[in-house]
Amino acid sequence: MKSKRRVTTSRDVRPSMPTRIPMDRKRRGPRAQSPVRTAVVAPEPPASPVPEPDLSVDLGRDLLLANPILVASGTFGYGIEYGDVVEIQRLGAICCKGTTLKARIGNITPRVTETPGGMLNSIGLQNPGVDAVLEKYAGTWTGWQVPVIVNVAGESVGDYVEVTKRLDGVPGVAGIELNISCPNVGRGGLQFAIDAGAAGEVTAAVRRATDLPLLVKLSPNVADVRPIARAIADAGADALTAINTLSGIAVAPSRQKPLLGNIYGGLSGPAIKPVALRIVYEVAQVVDIPVVAIGGVTELADVLDFLAVGAVAVQVGTAIFADPTLPVRLVDELAAECRHRGLASYRDLVGSALPKKPGAPSAKGVEYRP
Ligand SMILES: Cc1cc2nc3c(=O)[nH]c(=O)nc-3n(C[C@H](O)[C@H](O)[C@H](O)COP(=O)(O)O)c2cc1C
Repeated sequence: MKSKRRVTTSRDVRPSMPTRIPMDRKRRGPRAQSPVRTAVVAPEPPASPVPEPDLSVDLGRDLLLANPILVASGTFGYGIEYGDVVEIQRLGAICCKGTTLKARIGNITPRVTETPGGMLNSIGLQNPGVDAVLEKYAGTWTGWQVPVIVNVAGESVGDYVEVTKRLDGVPGVAGIELNISCPNVGRGGLQFAIDAGAAGEVTAAVRRATDLPLLVKLSPNVADVRPIARAIADAGADALTAINTLSGIAVAPSRQKPLLGNIYGGLSGPAIKPVALRIVYEVAQVVDIPVVAIGGVTELADVLDFLAVGAVAVQVGTAIFADPTLPVRLVDELAAECRHRGLASYRDLVGSALPKKPGAPSAKGVEYRP
């Protein structure tokens, strides 16, 4: 997709100023001008180089990223797969595939289908289990400059804690992102992410198990995300990531059954961006920890929109399948945008679309009127 950002054209460039008239001539006026032209015009001082804008961002507990463009879990493998086509060291961070305690073979096929403006997936957290992930990839991650955040999933608080303990202190693991959109077997399959109590409980338990930077990923499949976000922040998360996929289904061409083997899938891509924007907008006003936005980013305008509603960083997901080089290009485009606007830091763009009085419009719930 093409960037909607206005491109600077030669017409935008101001014509060079006419040679300045020396002050003494100005004061005396043209008639007092000496017939002998003795005044020497001072040369313009050389233009000082425009300093590079500061793109760095601290997601808490010293998880300092060089820039605010991350790649989303499940869409960039373990990072290694893209090493030949993407300058991965230039990314803000890599959120690797969802990792569980034991290996998972994932859901039955079909697992993905295209939808208008996005895709539905029901991969089912296929992964080789935390021990195999560490054995296979952690050594490589250690040599990288780009931080790797391991996305953790589980079916009980105990699962999350155990995976976390195995990741804790492993060189190459820069942080943890909890995927809490999983059925909680302890509560009869209710997702952790849709209940403030369960979300707070799993966050607090993981917090006690590690000093690693802890990000917790919000689900959009709730009526009001704010109490859940607050519970997670109160339980000690360092940052929130928002959002995971929206629950949906597709119908098989035969019209005799749902298309996906798992029936339900997660909707992602540009179609979900307005929902992600709404959630980031709401959450950014009720927590004091950083919010990282995810959902339908395909171009710089999307990044700027998410920053405007209070995100300090963004993750790129589904769009990577169409163009794996997009995230690195966004880093360059964000820097260029800052230079174009004369900003010393991209952080000047954060929160510009939030209400001036924090929390003002959200006291009574979602302000949605059809
Ligand atoms: C194929 C696929 C696999 C995903 N796997 C995970 C996962 O393992 N853990 C997780 O937290 N999110 C997972 N996600 C969700 C993404 O990280 C992201 O939250 C979501 O796709 C919305 O962003 P997007 O619209 O930019 O894709 C997955 C998404 C896709 C498309």
